[in-house]
Amino acid sequence: MPCVWLLYVSITIPYRNYLQQTLNDAVGKRIVIDFLGFNWDWINKQQNGNNWGPLTANLLLIGQEGNYTPVHYDEQHNLFAQVQGCKRIFLFPPSQFECLYPYPVYHPCDRQCQVDLRAPDFDRFPKLKRLKGYEVIVKPGDVLYIPMYWFHHVESIIGSGITTSITFWYKSGPTGKIEYPLKPQQKMAMMRNIEKMITEALNSSEEVPPFMQNMVLGRYT
Ligand code: SIN
Ligand code: FE
Repeated sequence: MPCVWLLYVSITIPYRNYLQQTLNDAVGKRIVIDFLGFNWDWINKQQNGNNWGPLTANLLLIGQEGNYTPVHYDEQHNLFAQVQGCKRIFLFPPSQFECLYPYPVYHPCDRQCQVDLRAPDFDRFPKLKRLKGYEVIVKPGDVLYIPMYWFHHVESIIGSGITTSITFWYKSGPTGKIEYPLKPQQKMAMMRNIEKMITEALNSSEEVPPFMQNMVLGRYT
């Protein structure tokens, strides 16, 4: 896997708008008509061929150049269609979990990472130095598959004008027989469930960190 460290140029535009709107009847007839013109045969083939579950939502993203979405993961498969302008997307497989330091599940920023890839703090997050992933540029007409639990950071490329993208989110399909060793994404799902269970049982998110530390520090470390 190539290393992702790049030089980020600071952006001087003071305010940038980023519309993120679920596609439904309320978005206006012309958008709905355009959306219906998508190549549904092709997209349905992807869904069936990959054994994904139902399509749950489409998000329309319209933004100014220089916008970015910080590194996070989603709990559904995403077919990410680029319509207008270009985006740079960094993708990191679930195996990179410990290098990205995701927030605890009970935290309001759940599924996002504590690290800022534009201003990496290696003192606070030393494993970030080992981060490896992929960089891809999507242009109008491209569709990128972002698998469930894969971390991604998305930037609208400066100089490419307004960017428009549409996401197609699919639930995971039925899971077959569990095979060992478990895959990193299955371990991420397990961790989420365990964290949720502990938070619920303690009935207080404040008690979770000392509880987890007592359980692990000096015993498993
Ligand atoms: C973006 O395009 O800014 C984010 C899309 C995503 O996270 O799926
Ligand atoms: Fe996402």
